[in-house]
Amino acid sequence: MAFFEWDKSLDVEVELMNQQHQTLIGMMEALYQKNEAGASKQELIAQAGELVNYVIKHFKDEENYMQSANFPGLETHRKLHNNLMVDLNKLVMDFVNGTNEKISVEFVMFLKMWLFTHIRGIDTKYKVLATR
Ligand SMILES: [Fe+2]
Ligand SMILES: [Fe+2]
Repeated sequence: MAFFEWDKSLDVEVELMNQQHQTLIGMMEALYQKNEAGASKQELIAQAGELVNYVIKHFKDEENYMQSANFPGLETHRKLHNNLMVDLNKLVMDFVNGTNEKISVEFVMFLKMWLFTHIRGIDTKYKVLATR
């Protein structure tokens, strides 16, 4: 069973954003699985780097979507993205510069928290725009 998996509770009712969330979750799962399978630190860093790049793209596209839909919560949402980016970068840099050969439990839990609180609790707020 996958540890990171998209399900209906994460549906934001915007096709492109659902697709991007699925890709993002797939990348989290790939990182998690490689970590569990004992991949080299080099491979884990490469996978984490891909995740960071995709997150940058996703946040930009999501903010552009909210702007085009005149979503009133855009500025707050943008700040939340910036905070997530700071935390994600710190976790990645700590891993790159640290002595650990494996991704920490803290890193995995951060990604999990992201799914349950950000996508489900925050991203789903803009779905009212798609349905009205
Ligand atoms: Fe978001
Ligand atoms: Fe999102």
